[in-house]
Amino acid sequence: MENNNKAEQKKRILSGIQPSGALTLGNYVGALRNWVQLQKEDIYESYYMIADLHAITVRQEPAALRKNCMDLLAIFLACGLDGEKEPIFFQSHVPAHTQLGWVLDCNTYMGELSRMTQFKDKSRKHADNINAGLFTYPSLMAADILLYQADLVPVGKDQKQHLELTRDLANRFNNAYSETFKVPEPYIPKVGAKIMSLQEPTQKMSKSDPNENSYILLLDPIDKAVKKIKRAVTDSGSEVCMGEGKEGIENLMSIYSAMTGKTMDEITVEFQGKGYGDFKSAVAESVTETLKPIQERYADLMKNKDYLESIYKRGAEQANYTARKTISKVYRKVGFIQP
Ligand code: TRP
Repeated sequence: MENNNKAEQKKRILSGIQPSGALTLGNYVGALRNWVQLQKEDIYESYYMIADLHAITVRQEPAALRKNCMDLLAIFLACGLDGEKEPIFFQSHVPAHTQLGWVLDCNTYMGELSRMTQFKDKSRKHADNINAGLFTYPSLMAADILLYQADLVPVGKDQKQHLELTRDLANRFNNAYSETFKVPEPYIPKVGAKIMSLQEPTQKMSKSDPNENSYILLLDPIDKAVKKIKRAVTDSGSEVCMGEGKEGIENLMSIYSAMTGKTMDEITVEFQGKGYGDFKSAVAESVTETLKPIQERYADLMKNKDYLESIYKRGAEQANYTARKTISKVYRKVGFIQP
């Protein structure tokens, strides 16, 4: 009983990732690892979602989508999210997302959606498939968040514009139909070292980069990850420090810092008088130490499909319970007759 009361007072977090293929070390440091930390702090109640409905805004091969979804669930757990304690679920398992998505579509202006930079980017990238779902994606994302009355939404910078729209939609609905939604805040983590490309360190590390050596995947075989670090671009100098023209070294320092918790200053001191070779070996070792246990847990989980199923089923049940409360309120307020 006491626990229930406590849960009601806790602020609520919701976030999601699209199952659109392998995650990079950058995704881990920028998102997943923070989620795990937030869950451990135990001051929030959190809902984590695999955004499969969002994924089909670009063409997906069904078998690959199915695999990516399961993979992502196993990765969430392997990274340390606790699906027994709090819901981890597939978006498509909670019908209220599309239900609220529609209501919000009818309260979102074409002009607002046309201004979304992600829409503009993706239309450029997928010029042969600029579908209506890609256009209305932000109101579905708003539904994801508002359904759970989330207080905080941990997202990367690229999602801030969608979150602003979510806030506008929440306020608009509340003003038109009376107080219904909590207006969520974005939660951009304090320490979120941005991990850059290993080949072009002025650009973000991204798995859509055609050069495989530019990114490390969470599930890269260890020897492959080590090779990518050894091949990372540096500069013609020899000092491990930050500065003009040292973006490559600085990025490796950020990675090392993210893996070990050491500050940039501490790292500079640690490698004074040592060469890039030694430094890269240390970076490779720190990455290995992070990836290895995750990969081992992932491999174990993938052998245990029943367990994965139990997690997503329970997640869907909890998520549906919360989401249904919001959608029935919304349906009532817009004037639909109760079934
Ligand atoms: N749009 C997000 C992305 O592409 C994923 C996402 C979908 C999301 N629904 C969400 C993130 C709700 C936070 C909250 O990265």
